[in-house]
Amino acid sequence: MTDKPANAMWGGRFAMSPAEIMQEINASIGFDKALAPQDIRGSKAHAEMLADAGIITKADAREIAKGLDKIKAEIDAGTFTFSRALEDVHMNVESRLKDLIGAAAGRLHTARSRNDQVATDFRLFVRDAIDGIDVALEAVQRALAEKAEKHAATVMPGFTHLQPAQPVTFGHHLLAYVEMIARDRGRFADARKRLNESPLGSAALAGTSFPIDREKTAEALGFDRPMANSLDGVSDRDFAMETLAAATIAAVHFSRLAEEIVIWMTPQFGFVKLSDRFTTGSSIMPQKRNPDAAELARAKVGRIASAFQGLVIVMKGLPLAYSKDMQEDKETTFDALSSLRLVMAAMAGMISDLEPNVEAMRAAAGRGYSTATDLADWLVRELKMPFRDAHHVTGSIVKMAEAKGADLDQLSLGEMQKVEPRITKAVFSVLSVENSVKSRTSYGGTAPQNVAKMARQWLRRLEKARAKV
Ligand code: ARG
Repeated sequence: MTDKPANAMWGGRFAMSPAEIMQEINASIGFDKALAPQDIRGSKAHAEMLADAGIITKADAREIAKGLDKIKAEIDAGTFTFSRALEDVHMNVESRLKDLIGAAAGRLHTARSRNDQVATDFRLFVRDAIDGIDVALEAVQRALAEKAEKHAATVMPGFTHLQPAQPVTFGHHLLAYVEMIARDRGRFADARKRLNESPLGSAALAGTSFPIDREKTAEALGFDRPMANSLDGVSDRDFAMETLAAATIAAVHFSRLAEEIVIWMTPQFGFVKLSDRFTTGSSIMPQKRNPDAAELARAKVGRIASAFQGLVIVMKGLPLAYSKDMQEDKETTFDALSSLRLVMAAMAGMISDLEPNVEAMRAAAGRGYSTATDLADWLVRELKMPFRDAHHVTGSIVKMAEAKGADLDQLSLGEMQKVEPRITKAVFSVLSVENSVKSRTSYGGTAPQNVAKMARQWLRRLEKARAKV
């Protein structure tokens, strides 16, 4: 960073340079340089519109566009020098434009303010991020659905309270996350719809007296329409809050899956194995294989949720229209969105990589009296018992098994008949975990045939969506 004269853009009214600390607290170039591509896109659209409306000459607009392209190339090549004295990306770009093309550069800011400029840039940035997130979420869904199809019939314990509850299939468990991610994608898509209006042309806050064409710049930048109120245009950050809220919920989902991977990876569970590609060793304990990627994916939600909360707090109570407070919207948003990108990529990698230990899962599925509900349901179905009575009878049988240190299917018929004489040997058919999952054929249930069908449906749907793009 170099230090150019500090008041190049409003030198008219200012005699003294800002205090060092003023520059330090005021400057945003350290992070908003990430908006340079969007800033340049916005400026090109604005200049072209100004020329079409006869507000600047076509020749000036051409010079401006050429200069902006050159600046883009310098930034891409890493040769552009960002200056803190020029505060932010907008003034850095404009100042360089003046170096490159001279007087015409001074016409670019006609009928525009940094207020509508930054609102436009930030919207474009968040929109680009949403588009990238959707692709990444789809990739996670595909990894999950592929694994689910393979393991549609692989039995594992289903938990409530992290206590063995009823057997489910591994495929069913994975498809639960496919559904969650589908809602995440819906939330991002929804945020994108409301985001996609152009603030450009709101100017500082009140609009402008120049005969600008806001429809034209909106269209050039891929927005659906211009925002209808200039005060709202420069002061709205709902799009960032909504996107961060969606990101937070998505990160919550990933933290749950990450936590499950961590639990499943412990020798005590031993349900899954991650390869060397997604684990680390310990520098002291040679036996260790640590699921660091899953742990970090579990933790990133902290940053993402704080970014959401941080922005909500920045915006709370801000009077209309623009206040410099709003400069605090960017750094944490950038961090949250790039954290989510990391999490999504790591999760997709881990899901493809992980292999379930089918035997260990099956054995665990049979422990903890996980088919007790099947026994109670059998009593209801075959003996026409009211469910509450069946629940009670089953409880007594479980208690007996517990006292013996046996599983339900290890009890003899005689032992069960001591509790309920009408039980027949047909009951044993529902006590195996395979039969238990097979019987869960209700819509959305864990029966392997349901799961295989759902997995295939998802894969087809994802394939179709991909073909459309
Ligand atoms: N760097 C500023 C921001 O991020 C740009 C807008 C500045 N506008 C102003 N009136 N000072 O919010």
